[in-house]
Amino acid sequence: MKHERQTILIVDDVPANIGVLVEFLEEKQFRVLVARDGEEGLERCRLVQPDLVLLDVMMPGIDGLETCRRLKQDSETARIPVIFMTAMTDSDNVVAAFEAGGVDYVTKPIRLTEVLARINTHLALREMHRQLSAQNALLRETNDRLLQAEKMAAIGQLAAGVAHEINNPIGFVNCNLGSLQTYVTTLFGVIDDFQQAASATHAVAARMAELNEAAEVDFIRHDFATLMSESRDGLQRVKDIVQSLKDFSHADNADTTFADLHQGLDSTLRIVSSEIKNKADVVKEYGDLPPVECISSQLNQVFMNLLVNAAHAIAARGVITIRTGRAGQWIWIEIGDTGTGMDAETIHRIFDPFFTTKPIGIGTGLGLSVSYGIVKRHGGRIEVHSEPGKGSRFTVHLPIQREPRHEP
Ligand SMILES: Nc1ncnc2c1ncn2[C@@H]1O[C@H](COP(=O)(O)OP(=O)(O)OP(=O)(O)O)[C@@H](O)[C@H]1O
Ligand SMILES: [Mg+2]
Repeated sequence: MKHERQTILIVDDVPANIGVLVEFLEEKQFRVLVARDGEEGLERCRLVQPDLVLLDVMMPGIDGLETCRRLKQDSETARIPVIFMTAMTDSDNVVAAFEAGGVDYVTKPIRLTEVLARINTHLALREMHRQLSAQNALLRETNDRLLQAEKMAAIGQLAAGVAHEINNPIGFVNCNLGSLQTYVTTLFGVIDDFQQAASATHAVAARMAELNEAAEVDFIRHDFATLMSESRDGLQRVKDIVQSLKDFSHADNADTTFADLHQGLDSTLRIVSSEIKNKADVVKEYGDLPPVECISSQLNQVFMNLLVNAAHAIAARGVITIRTGRAGQWIWIEIGDTGTGMDAETIHRIFDPFFTTKPIGIGTGLGLSVSYGIVKRHGGRIEVHSEPGKGSRFTVHLPIQREPRHEP
């Protein structure tokens, strides 16, 4: 049961009926309010949200049954339990009272101890209902988190597998490209040597020039360099993706230290300033942060992904707000933007690897999945609040210290 005083609203048009009841309930530590008719009762219920209503059935204006029906129709007051006070004991009226939404009734003249017993029963029931709802909500949230964690673990395994499989072929393609470049350069050299050797004999030289032209050797020489550099670029991109997948699925063995995250945020801001400065003004609202046990380079990567995403979400010009703070043994870092925001369906998928709404070449859809993995390995979590058209807020929650330290 709650410890603060609970409020009971008595709705009755005859003051003489309730004087003793009010006194008695106040003695029992309830806060008691009185309304003189149904309309006033409804008004006070909406305003005060009492924990329980004692409602007279027979009143001028709207009677008790109608008052109760209206209470139950209004979502703001529907949950307040109503106990009828009635002089009538015939079963029709009792049925009508329950049908109107009452949870119980007492008959007049009122026996104080009986009222108290019934009030306590229904308050206890209501409290249990409240606790159950809260626990249900918590369970749902935990379940969602577990499902998300499970999904991420499965994707992580897949990502690690793919990364491993791709790593090998990339290795030998890269190696072969190197050999190819050496071979072809040698062949070009040989062609040059042939040409030079042939220059002594006019006819042979002319024939060589002809062959050269037919095979477009000069063009090939030039294009070969371009093709080589493009291929190396492509390979580098695949390597980066593989590295991201690895980052997502398992930690490097980098050392953890106690780091100043404001410093990390500031240096990351400097790195991405070119992406941000013509899109958004950055507002910093830093709170007090203690040093946090982390792999700071990895957290900087998280900040970078969030900041770049925020800048990308802003079409013309907007604001990126960075807030930080501490809550007990945890700290939080929030990066908010005034950008496009996301609908519920998008929010559901943003942590999936390769989920992107950006054009090819702009986004690979790995930023948030990598960030998710990093924060998870730090024992933390990322929360997202977003509404289409209103912007987004990403909040990273991290424990200040990873695990309780044991003395050796
Ligand atoms: N601040 C934001 N506002 C609106 N949408 C966002 C925001 N952050 C992420 N998103 C959405 O989530 C998607 C996934 O983000 P994520 O960072 O994982 O990938 P990306 O930015 O598309 O590509 P990458 O980060 O790999 O370059 C984005 O394509 C975008 O649709
Ligand atoms: Mg991104």
